[in-house]
Amino acid sequence: MHDPIALRALHKARFGVEPEVYAAPGRVNLIGEHTDYAEGFVMPAAIDFATLAGISPRKDGKIVMYAENFSEERTFDAAALPTKASKNWSDYPLGVVTILAGEGLKIPGFSLTLWGDVPLASGLSSSASVEVATALAVTSLIGASYPGARFHPGNENLSPGARLARLCQRAENEFVGANCGIMDQFISANGAENHALLLDCRDLSFKLAPIPAGVALVIANTMVKHSVAGGEYTSRRAQVEEAAAVIARHRPEVRFLRDATLDDLVRWGSEMSPNALKRARHVISENLRTVAAADALMRRDLEELGRLMAEAHLSYSRDFEASCVEADAMVSLAQGLPGLIGARLTGGGFGGCTINLVERDHAAEFSEELSARYATETGIVPQILICHASSGAHKINR
Ligand code: GLA
Repeated sequence: MHDPIALRALHKARFGVEPEVYAAPGRVNLIGEHTDYAEGFVMPAAIDFATLAGISPRKDGKIVMYAENFSEERTFDAAALPTKASKNWSDYPLGVVTILAGEGLKIPGFSLTLWGDVPLASGLSSSASVEVATALAVTSLIGASYPGARFHPGNENLSPGARLARLCQRAENEFVGANCGIMDQFISANGAENHALLLDCRDLSFKLAPIPAGVALVIANTMVKHSVAGGEYTSRRAQVEEAAAVIARHRPEVRFLRDATLDDLVRWGSEMSPNALKRARHVISENLRTVAAADALMRRDLEELGRLMAEAHLSYSRDFEASCVEADAMVSLAQGLPGLIGARLTGGGFGGCTINLVERDHAAEFSEELSARYATETGIVPQILICHASSGAHKINR
């Protein structure tokens, strides 16, 4: 049902009113992993799988949310919102609303219908797509945007899309309790059709890099579940921060690994735990690779892009130790298949999906062959999605 008309009908049948409908996509990251919270670079693209949010006002002061994917409705009092997450799907939309309320915005009652086709817990940012769709729906309903300068000085100058992303990142960090960076929410809010987006996670400036029409984004789901709220993501982040703190003892201007160099690791790596040193080597080299990959894509040097993706996967697997047997298998089984440009594990790690850039003419054949090889090797039938880069969050007009 990637179909706004069906969502509209569903909302109307349940709540008796025509909704306004908004969409926000999931994403795939081409390169730049665990660099966002180190104020570095990432290069994701929004995909053609999304969350749709239908919204209409209510007069009874209630916030009623219905998730079609779970066939479940939850009701809250707009004037007395919960302050704690409940480990339920509703944490994501509710998180957005509580952050807006915390900024002093008056939240009226409303009905919200959510439906999405972004595969869950697969590293394709289904949660960010729910947050961004909700945020766009609610801010449009109340006619206000997230001010947020209190938390992010300089926010006054951010574009509406960047503010939307900040709002959703705060919902995830502060309400849901997952310590993610800004990448997923940013691309869901700001993606552009047929483009990847090189984002500078320090000042949220970005450049769009056109993805040639002949290139398909083939996403291969290992079917190993991934979760950002899981302990591994948090422990990697702590190791990245430990490395930055060691370098800062010698070079106080280094607040994040974005500012560090491989030479810093040669000089002061022995003062870090062995794990922090390896994680830092990944992050620092990944930043360099990401900027180089954007450059290669803009020059249409697909061979160089593929080479950088292969290098990034090795770094992610060996130094960051965020891969798993299945993801390593999916990447290595893709090698030599017809049309492959580059392959790597995408997203937070520890399972989820690989991204394969594939010549579009070979995408179907590539997918069949990869699926068969993976099933034989692991005994797991993967899900393969042939995608194209899509636009970010938007209103769907009738
Ligand atoms: C998850 C997080 C992002 C980012 C990636 C790793 O998707 O939500 O902020 O850190 O992992 O690159």
